[in-house]
Amino acid sequence: MVELEIPSNDSLEVKAVWQNLAEAHRYLAELKGLCESLPNRAILLDTLSIQEAKDSSEIENIITTHDELYAYEPNSLSSPAAKEVQNYIAALRVGFSDVQESGLIRLNTILRVQEAVEQNNAGLRKLPGTMLKNQSTGATVYEPPQNALVVEKLMADLVGFIHADDELDPLLRMAIAHHQFESIHPFYDGNGRTGRILNLLIMQREGLLDLPVLYLSRYITSTKSQYYQLLQATRDSHDWVAWCVYIVKGVAVTAKNEIKLVKQLRELMQATKQRLRTELPKLYSQELLNNLFRHPYTKIEFVENDLGVSRITAAKHLDALATNGFVQKKKIGRNNYYINVPLFNLLTQITLDDE
Ligand SMILES: Nc1ncnc2c1ncn2[C@@H]1O[C@H](COP(=O)(O)OP(=O)(O)OP(=O)(O)O)[C@@H](O)[C@H]1O
Ligand SMILES: [Mg+2]
Repeated sequence: MVELEIPSNDSLEVKAVWQNLAEAHRYLAELKGLCESLPNRAILLDTLSIQEAKDSSEIENIITTHDELYAYEPNSLSSPAAKEVQNYIAALRVGFSDVQESGLIRLNTILRVQEAVEQNNAGLRKLPGTMLKNQSTGATVYEPPQNALVVEKLMADLVGFIHADDELDPLLRMAIAHHQFESIHPFYDGNGRTGRILNLLIMQREGLLDLPVLYLSRYITSTKSQYYQLLQATRDSHDWVAWCVYIVKGVAVTAKNEIKLVKQLRELMQATKQRLRTELPKLYSQELLNNLFRHPYTKIEFVENDLGVSRITAAKHLDALATNGFVQKKKIGRNNYYINVPLFNLLTQITLDDE
């Protein structure tokens, strides 16, 4: 690979592509509107990014328990897996705020994202030797460019392609960019995770979403063998239709699921609000409700900070909520957590239903 391979727009003007594009854009627009109508959008960002980080990190077989995920303490001795997931969340934030501020996805943005994922500053590959192997047989399936100058040039071209002002549909741009990014394989490690974050940044930059809430990792993880097979087959055949259909379908399926989730979340918040108002009227405040939904595992400090109350008051609030069945108290490590069980169930039991 010495040049990017960019299929022509004409070669993608086929029924399978445009039908799926139409569907994906319809669901994306609905999701965008729905997110705009949400009263507290930070809730969505915080809770969904945790799930995305877990899903994306699973491809690397980094699997953590939910307690570890939601009750993560930065300074404690948490497992390396929980740390990886937190690095991924940090990387998402780095990328998102960079694109929000500059409106661009610069090479530096991509470097910073990968640095946050991997927690090292190795940067672009400089030494040869990186090969992509079949995970079961160990046979080399693909040799990415080995020369550091070639890697650099291809990355510059990719950044150019991402920002090109042409007729290409933004979702096709994302699909092609993802393929080419993985084929350049610019880093020693973390190319998959960085590439999945890049997908999100492309959608964000294209204005398809105001909030970074459309995460394709669950789709990719659950169709992993197809994903790997298509990455390779597209390169071998130079036929991009199946690849583009696969990615665009992923957007449609994911957006559709996310719409369902956001609606359920909104209903659950509404119902909890009503119950709080009737059963614990003295305790009820919008800030408390937001707190319970922003932190599926909340704790005294969070309530103290979010409500501006003393530690004693925060503890009293949480205990009253536990006694009345709004949250379930659980000791993890040295801390007490108060779990919003219906929210937890909603967030952890999402499956991707295709049709
Ligand atoms: N034949 C292939 N052609 C191009 N890219 C490939 C091929 N096989 C795998 N890849 C890409 O390489 C990624 C893995 O690379 P790497 O180990 O650097 O990333 P990671 O983030 O550590 O791993 P993962 O994606 O498994 O979480 C895969 O996610 C996939 O996108
Ligand atoms: Mg890896």
